Amino acid sequence: MVTIINFSSRKNGNSLHIANVCKDNFEQSIVYNLSENDYHKCGNCNYECLQKEKCPVNDNLYKLYESIFDSELVIFIVPNYSEFPCANYFIFNERLRGYFSTDECLYKKYTKINKKFIVVTNTQNNNFEVAFKYHVDKHKVPDILYMSSKKFKQSSISGSLMENDDAKNVVIDFIKDEYVCERSAMAIVFYQDKLLVTNEEIYGRLTISLPKGHIENDETTVETAMRECFEETGVKLKRRHFITELEPFEIRFINHYNKLVKKAIYPIVFELHNFVRPYSIEKRIKEIKYMPIFEFMDKGTYDNIKEIVKIAMTKRG
Ligand SMILES: Cc1cc2nc3c(=O)[nH]c(=O)nc-3n(C[C@H](O)[C@H](O)[C@H](O)COP(=O)(O)O)c2cc1C
Repeated sequence: MVTIINFSSRKNGNSLHIANVCKDNFEQSIVYNLSENDYHKCGNCNYECLQKEKCPVNDNLYKLYESIFDSELVIFIVPNYSEFPCANYFIFNERLRGYFSTDECLYKKYTKINKKFIVVTNTQNNNFEVAFKYHVDKHKVPDILYMSSKKFKQSSISGSLMENDDAKNVVIDFIKDEYVCERSAMAIVFYQDKLLVTNEEIYGRLTISLPKGHIENDETTVETAMRECFEETGVKLKRRHFITELEPFEIRFINHYNKLVKKAIYPIVFELHNFVRPYSIEKRIKEIKYMPIFEFMDKGTYDNIKEIVKIAMTKRG
């Protein structure tokens, strides 16, 4: 059984169409539309839930809770309203906390149920990941797909996103866990109080990041990091510059062929003892420089890479 929850306020918009695509792809599934009148917000109560008493609000949400506990997968479809999940999502979230307040074990059981989150948005930000954390096991990162009408050359207001076959296939791949898996290695190269950084164009956007690229068949992760560093920055690393290899981390994105990609990135830490002049060979790389670490923490494009750099700093001698 798969429970699909559509949080959108719109009667016949992108979120409902995505919900229907999800429904059609599972044998046993049910869609709940949270904008219908059968679901109530918290209110007109004495905070019974905070006193570990039963929530006095009585509505159809209990039927939805039952459906969730009967499911092996729950799919949340949440539109972006003003850079946050829409209000219906927060209503559900707050009521759910009330429901679990009398039974901590039930909450734990709830977090173990497999969940996927589809955000309908033209922008992408951390607010969604933070908001969804409540619903997943505390050691897990919420599994989120950001569906942008703009990416598929549709207007979100026209509600036509699922008429685009590429967009529809991305949704199906996501709910079916069908990813193209890739592996990449990244060179974190320290020189004094600086980091070797690239300013390159990725998917049409100038990105301040670190040298990295695909691991070829017979290469080790360290060899890839050294090769990519040379190809992207002209800086030739030697074995003596190697410090350590850090735990890989995962990124997910939709590639140029509209395929969902799951990429494991292996961070390899190096330390240069002498200045080596960088130079650009690849056209897409606009600038290479040794950037003060504090400046990278401010200007670097990706927060997850900044976090890895913080860990790498603790490994320097
Ligand atoms: C009040 C409101 C605020 C919105 N704010 C944003 C926003 O900040 N960023 C964005 O990408 N889309 C925003 N949108 C557009 C919705 O995300 C878009 O309409 C999307 O298709 C929602 O799914 P729906 O078609 O089911 O409504 C907003 C829509 C509404 C109604």
